[in-house]
Amino acid sequence: MRIIAIANQKGGCGKTTTAINLSACLTEKGCKTLLIDMDPQSHASIGLGIDVDKLEKSMYEVLVQPDVGFYNIIRKTEIPGLEIAPATIMLSGAEIDLANAIGRENVLKECIQELQHQYDYVIMDCPPSLSLLTVNALTAADDLLAPVHTQYFPLEGVKQLLKTIDIVKSRLNNKLNVLGILPTLFDKRTKLSRDVLRGIRDYFREKAFNTVINNNIKLAEAPSAGKSIISYDRSSIGAMDYQSLAEEVIAREKKIRS
Ligand SMILES: Nc1ncnc2c1ncn2[C@@H]1O[C@H](COP(=O)(O)OP(=O)(O)O)[C@@H](O)[C@H]1O
Ligand SMILES: [Mg+2]
Repeated sequence: MRIIAIANQKGGCGKTTTAINLSACLTEKGCKTLLIDMDPQSHASIGLGIDVDKLEKSMYEVLVQPDVGFYNIIRKTEIPGLEIAPATIMLSGAEIDLANAIGRENVLKECIQELQHQYDYVIMDCPPSLSLLTVNALTAADDLLAPVHTQYFPLEGVKQLLKTIDIVKSRLNNKLNVLGILPTLFDKRTKLSRDVLRGIRDYFREKAFNTVINNNIKLAEAPSAGKSIISYDRSSIGAMDYQSLAEEVIAREKKIRS
């Protein structure tokens, strides 16, 4: 089982879109996958068709109530083999409830242990901050995948994220691996996108994924239908890009293990 945190403290860089569609594409390639929604905005849950207003228990209870486990909250999705541990706005309270807890950064890691060997991949969608929720995800993770918007300069935000990773690595999780930096929302017609992509490749070298996620309206439409891109429009550029990312993730994981 590999646990991948999708994180970048910047909002709107494609974390949730990547969490949903990478999970769907990994599942389609035969990998049993769990998507954990770690964002109180619950966009990953909603985007996979979960009616979050009707949930009695969600990630908040898993993190805060010792008697609630993942098995009490995990839901199936319309894609066989893809399951989700949903979040609601309640999760924002976990930050406060855990603030004074002993080992507060390790809570998710301990909860995830009950899932050992149940899935090939666990993908975590993080909130747009370097909050305790994100730190919990990074502490529980084997890998970090950081989406980076290609229509913004500079890359300072990503450098900040990597500094946080170094702190998490030295204090909380020395096995955390930067699986890759993913250029997103790429618009090949703009010089800005091309320049930022070059900047990402120059700075991050082999850590940058070869796959680039193009700007594709279908990716923005799919969540309002409660679907991943492969169910919403399999022939779209967005579907092809995320399939290519899933292949690259599987290849990188294989290389790490060999
Ligand atoms: N490749 C893409 N092409 C078009 N729209 C996208 C793409 N990726 C994300 N979006 C849209 O951009 C917005 C922000 O993306 P999102 O995945 O929610 O980012 P984050 O989770 O990092 O805040 C959403 O409205 C989403 O639908
Ligand atoms: Mg998001």
